[in-house]
Amino acid sequence: MATIVRPRQKGPVKPQVEVLFSAKQIASRVEALAQEISADYKGRNLLLIGVLKGSFMFLGDMIRHLAVPVEIDFLSVSSYAGDTSTGMVKLNFDFKTDARGRDVLLIDDIVDTGFSLAFARKHILERKARSVEVGVLLDKPQRRKVLVPVRYTGFTVPDRFVVGYGLDYNERYRELPYIGVLPLEKIGP
Ligand code: IMP
Ligand code: MG
Repeated sequence: MATIVRPRQKGPVKPQVEVLFSAKQIASRVEALAQEISADYKGRNLLLIGVLKGSFMFLGDMIRHLAVPVEIDFLSVSSYAGDTSTGMVKLNFDFKTDARGRDVLLIDDIVDTGFSLAFARKHILERKARSVEVGVLLDKPQRRKVLVPVRYTGFTVPDRFVVGYGLDYNERYRELPYIGVLPLEKIGP
């Protein structure tokens, strides 16, 4: 007898996380962004550089809808311990692709203070890329401390700590298929 596999209606339930954007809302926004990117990069030599680890889900889903050829690489920076930015950015892991003359799109999960993306963008420009644009799933404009030009934004979020769809709190919650607010006051250290 055939086994019936019922699709899960909801992802893993974390009762303390208040849903901000559902998996369905994220999927349609990500597809629209991919269409915009495809139109803008038609006939160009696109290199996507994802910022690890937070961008992995956004980048993975977005590229499935791209209509232009693309190369993918990753870098890793850190400026965070827990939920407060130090403003000190460190390159943990560098991308390997020769960026000279390439049109680079730098992809991250969220732009918050802007320190990480400003640092990563400058780093790629120093590697002689022809252009470096920035794409993020989330923008938290109220917390910006340094100007970084963001070309593609999925959603604007309020000044709350958000998790899921790649975003973590101390390495947890990345697996959630939705984006939610984590009430840090209830979670503790
Ligand atoms: P920055 O302050 O713009 O440099 O943000 C750097 C990084 O902090 C982002 O790439 C995220 O990984 C992380 N981050 C900022 N805000 C949040 C948040 O609300 N939830 C989870 N991670 C965040
Ligand atoms: Mg990050």
